[in-house]
Amino acid sequence: MSFVTRNFFDKIQNSTTFTKWRLPSPPYYDPNYWDRVYKDLTPDDCIEWGGFDLNGLLKFRFERVTLDEHHGSDVGTQETDSEKESTFAKWMGIQQHSSPEEASQRYLERRTNNEKCNDTILLLGCGNSKMGEQLLVHGFQGPFLHLDVSSKVIQCMTQRYETYLKQAAVQRMEFIVDDAATGLTSLEPESVGGGVIDKGLLDALHCSLRNIHAEDTSNDDGDPIQNIVASVHRVLQPSRPFVFFSRSSPEYMLRRAFGKGNDARNRRKLWTDISVIKLTDLNVMLYRFIKAENHASKQRGMDDGNTVNSRVTTRGFRLKNKQRKK
Ligand SMILES: C[S@@+](CC[C@H](N)C(=O)[O-])C[C@H]1O[C@@H](n2cnc3c(N)ncnc32)[C@H](O)[C@@H]1O
Repeated sequence: MSFVTRNFFDKIQNSTTFTKWRLPSPPYYDPNYWDRVYKDLTPDDCIEWGGFDLNGLLKFRFERVTLDEHHGSDVGTQETDSEKESTFAKWMGIQQHSSPEEASQRYLERRTNNEKCNDTILLLGCGNSKMGEQLLVHGFQGPFLHLDVSSKVIQCMTQRYETYLKQAAVQRMEFIVDDAATGLTSLEPESVGGGVIDKGLLDALHCSLRNIHAEDTSNDDGDPIQNIVASVHRVLQPSRPFVFFSRSSPEYMLRRAFGKGNDARNRRKLWTDISVIKLTDLNVMLYRFIKAENHASKQRGMDDGNTVNSRVTTRGFRLKNKQRKK
């Protein structure tokens, strides 16, 4: 889908007049929906949301999208005359080593020296994408945490990388079942020192949620996209990036991520730098939020006592989900 087509759908779906009207869309917000999607897929199957993977991101051409003070302006304000080139490593602020062996060696040294900083990359809503494997192959240090709400897809991914998991001298891939909309409680606060990447989760949710101008009738569970952004903020180390991709423009995606009014201003302040660029060859926008430094201790205080610092089991997760739905 092109930017123009998505913009057309976004305009209809988020009309200011017919706020209750909604385009038909699969229930991407429902974890059971994803289990049904992955039910008949095998470990060899790979569906890359957006039709691109890390190979298209290692080096890319981009145009910066100018944002207004509040929620970002429309797609017509890109600096089209200043097309630039950049790399995934630069945008994530992480090092790409010259070989996977060198990355593995550096990872080992860090672990042995008990260094506090880490290059952990969290792949949010990883599905059966090969991004994690490609990060490993292309010399990023990791570890690479593959996280998805669907136990079915995590099972497939564990099977796909079974040989690696059994034979690698240093394991830098992990697979976790968790719901990003309920706090990412399987991860410790500020444990992700590389960055969080979401390819498709927020974008899919945006397409299936109600009109952004609709009255706020949210129940106790709150808005799934804002909950996910809050969960990501909790697990990221300060000054580290959250990167996600969407074909929808900032006027919609930033509104989704932060909401409206005073709450939006407060949520936005948790991030120091919000940038949006258009990847010209991939026909998608890259959104990057950098976690603000000064909220670190406050956030730590909020997390104390509320966090279960252990990996959730699939059964535990299912139970938690069931209780949430009641
Ligand atoms: C559009 S797919 C993208 C998959 C993959 N990242 C890719 O690039 O192809 C969205 C993924 O998010 C997962 N997902 C949906 N809701 C989630 C949630 N609340 N927490 C974690 N993962 C979720 C789905 O199971 C699905 O694998």
